[in-house]
Amino acid sequence: MTELENSDTNLPAMQLDTTTSSKICATVTTSFEALAGQECSEKLTTDAQLGRGRIYFSVPPADVNKLHTLKSVDNLSVMVAEMDGYCTPQETFQDRLLDLPSQLQWKQPLYTWHLFTGKPYPTLPDFTMPPSALLHDKNQEASLQNNVSINAHPNNVIPIATPTFRVTCNRVGKDHQFTSMDCAAKFGGAINDLLHWRVDLSNPDINVILNIVENSINISIALTGASLHRRNITQFGPTALRSTIAYNMLRLADIQNGDIVCDPMAGGGSISVEGAVNWISSFHICGDNHHAAGLRSVANRDYAGNQNNIRSMAMDVATWDVCCLPLRRNSVDIVVSDMPFGKRLGNVKIGSKHKNWKLYDHALSEMARICRCSSGRAVLLTQDSKVMTKVLQQYKHLWKRRHCYWINIGGLTAAVYVLLRTEHEY
Ligand SMILES: C[S@@+](CC[C@H](N)C(=O)[O-])C[C@H]1O[C@@H](n2cnc3c(N)ncnc32)[C@H](O)[C@@H]1O
Repeated sequence: MTELENSDTNLPAMQLDTTTSSKICATVTTSFEALAGQECSEKLTTDAQLGRGRIYFSVPPADVNKLHTLKSVDNLSVMVAEMDGYCTPQETFQDRLLDLPSQLQWKQPLYTWHLFTGKPYPTLPDFTMPPSALLHDKNQEASLQNNVSINAHPNNVIPIATPTFRVTCNRVGKDHQFTSMDCAAKFGGAINDLLHWRVDLSNPDINVILNIVENSINISIALTGASLHRRNITQFGPTALRSTIAYNMLRLADIQNGDIVCDPMAGGGSISVEGAVNWISSFHICGDNHHAAGLRSVANRDYAGNQNNIRSMAMDVATWDVCCLPLRRNSVDIVVSDMPFGKRLGNVKIGSKHKNWKLYDHALSEMARICRCSSGRAVLLTQDSKVMTKVLQQYKHLWKRRHCYWINIGGLTAAVYVLLRTEHEY
């Protein structure tokens, strides 16, 4: 193994500090950073530092498993290093990338990666396994104390092996004299030389992320493979909403135990499914006027129930028209909905722009009828903020606008309105 002056890769893994926290980076829909920060402080009792579209927070090894409970974030990675001004001078930047892996502290982030993914700790021939949160067997613990290299997998079936890896380079900045591909290749080659990990671009064990932002760089190791927004849904419609956005909208609604939460334009039911999984002491009703949407909602509800070991999901599905809901006056606490936008997706027509005015008018009126006066609230997502503003002006005696969050969905700007039902009787 190469003798290194600065890197920690020549330390035996047993010398890992199992109390030191790692810095985690979580990506989140822009504008929802504060919501994600709140979730972190509730679930991990850690304060997050908010950036644009990301949040940062520290997690000790003992709490790494709790990262799996976060629902507001899309991707998680563990930070290895952040260096301001590293790109200058640009002429020597790529050469410096060749030396960089040997100057980084890899052990602690890799330990966090190991604890999060459950994959074996990546080894060099002279590494021994670190004490692991995954250990459950007294014999395994004894072996560890005797400094014997063993497998940390609970079933002891995965051999300790050199992991596969790739480098993903994201670059933001105008005047760079290098491409992302060049940087990924240089940095990846240097990691391969140092750690002997094998390259696998399509399905790597370890995804090392090199972010270049103007003159600065940061390096992290991805914890999540697929984005966390792909959960709980098995039947996708043409406008299926990301589960993470649905979760954040539900958080904005401030759901209390016993609340009845309704999505009257539910599509495949992603909002109600997310609600029934995460707010199990409330009840979720959803419906749509398209016959196929109801079938998708039921399939998604049953799938999510199985996935989350919830035997009976508190969620009912109906087929209805939002303009004439079969629900009583003052019977619902919260409406959360992703409204039709009047756009085309491929060949599929979703609403139509000129019909939005009529639909939004009827929908907001009907939502006000079913929602409890004074305490009721609505969280509505739309790309048609012009029509929404007009309709809200018309119904200002029924709905009070509390907040509006501007978010980005697939490159399109959308608005999430948080509305309070006034005391005015319908
Ligand atoms: C943006 S999509 C909702 C997508 C949904 N959040 C999902 O994840 O699948 C809007 C939905 O509103 C429904 N819709 C349009 N007009 C409606 C009406 N008058 N009554 C009920 N639903 C309606 C459409 O069928 C469509 O499924």
